[in-house]
Amino acid sequence: MPGRTGGSSAGAGRPYETVVYSDRGPAAVSEAQPREGEGMPAIVLLGAQWGDEGKGKATDLLGSRVDAVVKFNGGNNAGHTIVVDGEKYALHLLPSGILSPKCTPVIGNGVVIDLAVLFEEIDGLEARGVDTSKLVVSSNAHVIAPYNRALDKVTERFLGNSKIGTTGRGIGPTYADKMSRIGIRVQDLFDEDVLRAKVSGALNLKNQIFVKIYNRKGYEVDAVVQDLLGYAERLRPMVADTALLLENMLNENKTVVLEAAQATLLDVDHGTYPFVTSSNATAGGACTGSGVPPTRISRVIAVVKAYTTRVGEGPFPTELLHEKGDELRNAGAEFGTTTGRPRRTGWFDAPVARYATRINGVTDFVLTKLDVLTGMAEVPVCVAYEVDGKRVDELPMTQSEFARAVPIYETFPGWTEDISQARSLDELPRNARDYIATLEGMIGAPISAVGVGPGRDETIAVRDLLD
Ligand code: GDP
Ligand code: IMO
Ligand code: MG
Repeated sequence: MPGRTGGSSAGAGRPYETVVYSDRGPAAVSEAQPREGEGMPAIVLLGAQWGDEGKGKATDLLGSRVDAVVKFNGGNNAGHTIVVDGEKYALHLLPSGILSPKCTPVIGNGVVIDLAVLFEEIDGLEARGVDTSKLVVSSNAHVIAPYNRALDKVTERFLGNSKIGTTGRGIGPTYADKMSRIGIRVQDLFDEDVLRAKVSGALNLKNQIFVKIYNRKGYEVDAVVQDLLGYAERLRPMVADTALLLENMLNENKTVVLEAAQATLLDVDHGTYPFVTSSNATAGGACTGSGVPPTRISRVIAVVKAYTTRVGEGPFPTELLHEKGDELRNAGAEFGTTTGRPRRTGWFDAPVARYATRINGVTDFVLTKLDVLTGMAEVPVCVAYEVDGKRVDELPMTQSEFARAVPIYETFPGWTEDISQARSLDELPRNARDYIATLEGMIGAPISAVGVGPGRDETIAVRDLLD
């Protein structure tokens, strides 16, 4: 290693000489200084609950002042609805920065890409006049092969009552292939021999599973290769070493936002496993999924809803069933952007948000959908849980305890005034302001913006998220 000096051996045998691997000699080595952070720090934006917190809107809000938005995990399981001048856009694979003309949207190495969906989404936006020509795709990102889409659906069916409730987009099987080292990467599409060898290797095993376990037809290597090659020419100009691109942008003092799909409680390591997605949606994933090192990250913005929702199976202590749950679902239009499934709804869970602060090192919260609570006589907040007769203030250590956790609520008075026109905290009714202050006191980081409607401008900026 250049610059490294060897020491003298204290052990038995011949002491070795001090060697300086530097052209400039020992003096240059001893004068070497630790590397200072240079350029601009990167910003992470992620979800604090079980997804659908309004990350898309929050990223879009920063968009006009941001030079690059990088999607670092997930695939078209994500669904972000963004409303600009009354026009609604539903994004799945493309980073939310795509709607800001100045911004370079980047699909990072941590993403899994369904190429048909990618081009469909690009074409859909272009048809509506959105310029997508700046999109850059990592050569190391993995591709969702047709057999992985099929495997996702068939496995869920096979699991029956134990199913995860996945989006059925092939996300889990594609990440499993990545970890098993049989995945197909974007760069493989540019070398037909490599692609064929990889598809053939993967299908050797998978066809046995399709035929012998699931009693279905296997896949032809040739058909899969041709399907994937069909996208290569159009994809090629978009592909780059995105980690290098981002390093250069940061060194040029450009502002880079690393945008998570899914959320903290859906993270494969830190979420409610196994009822999670198959990637790291937390701050650590921002580094591995983009190639931006942790020493360059200065700010972690977490988006949190003023209540809670979740899609799919898994524990959800504050879930509301029956009419109260329906009321919140209808008030918040809580139906999935990707699958259209009704989202499960419940009250705000402070231990969950506190957990997100701890796991991600959250520096700022964006509190969304406060307007949805308007008209509720009272607003309960879960402040801790009772597990097996004992009060627990943090998320319990085991999944079985979390599944048994009973929320302990404190109830706050609601408000009836329409808050969608408020653009500063002073313009909010007293009870709404108190609700924000109460949450802030419980979640471990300041609330720097508050959403009062779906539109880009329907936001109260408390402090600057980019300064
Ligand atoms: P994401 O997956 O985190 O980007 O969130 P989704 O887009 O799936 O779900 C959030 C939904 O809430 C979208 O339909 C947004 O348009 C909407 N939304 C975001 N912020 C607000 C807000 O402050 N108030 C209201 N009423 N809707 C919001
Ligand atoms: P955004 O980015 C909410 C859920 C699925 C399922 C589990 C695993 O819009 O917040 P998967 O298809 O990823 O293997 O499914 O994760 N899920 C989401 N729930 N918002 C999302 O994304 C989600 N992406 C996946 O419903 O329970
Ligand atoms: Mg969503």
